Amino acid sequence: MQGLLQALKVIGYIILGFGAYQVIMRFIRCNWHFPAPSFITVFLNSRLRARLQDPERVIKRSGIKPGQRVLEIGCGGGFFLPYAAQAVGAEGHVVGLDIDEKMLEKSLSHLAKTPAHIRERVELIQRSAYHLPFEDASLDVVYLVAALMEIPDPQRCLREVRRVLKPQGVLAVSEFMPDPDYPTRRVTIRTAEGAGFAVEAVEGNAWAYTIRFKKV
Ligand SMILES: C[S@@+](CC[C@H](N)C(=O)[O-])C[C@H]1O[C@@H](n2cnc3c(N)ncnc32)[C@H](O)[C@@H]1O
Repeated sequence: MQGLLQALKVIGYIILGFGAYQVIMRFIRCNWHFPAPSFITVFLNSRLRARLQDPERVIKRSGIKPGQRVLEIGCGGGFFLPYAAQAVGAEGHVVGLDIDEKMLEKSLSHLAKTPAHIRERVELIQRSAYHLPFEDASLDVVYLVAALMEIPDPQRCLREVRRVLKPQGVLAVSEFMPDPDYPTRRVTIRTAEGAGFAVEAVEGNAWAYTIRFKKV
């Protein structure tokens, strides 16, 4: 009985801690917009994160196929890049774009742990999500994970994504709840629709989801 009470106490503390973290972080994020600091990759690239948001599943749900040209906006510490590089195969190409130089350095060291033949499919670019260095209609898939709502004007970013995507191209937005910028599925859909996209598929649940969009 005492053991059970102890366990309930610990669970209570965890829930309380998570709730307090969410309230404080959301208050900060609502009032001050700044890119996530690079030290946060300690969590973003961790095994715990992989349990909360399986990177392989995220990439699968993003609709990435062999031979495609793929862009990740706000790639951060590069957690998803090796999986995307694996999915595009030897003929494909992946670009990881981020506004923060320090984040790209983290991506680079993360990629260094990946076999060379996969790593070589990835290119890293420091650029703003508002100015994508690609020709019109040149990419097959653009995906963002826990990044869209960190960009001060997400619709401006998505209009730029619309420009660079091929006519049948896919925009995939993945989110997970521990992110203080986490938007509900409804907010993500409204944001993307406002930038000229239509929902193709919604996968996952409120905790961690991926929504694929097509251009309209
Ligand atoms: C919370 S991190 C997520 C990183 C990665 N997608 C992940 O899930 O591990 C969001 C990233 O978006 C980047 N970012 C924020 N604003 C940006 C902008 N305007 N243009 C490009 N990247 C931006 C940040 O630098 C940061 O690396």
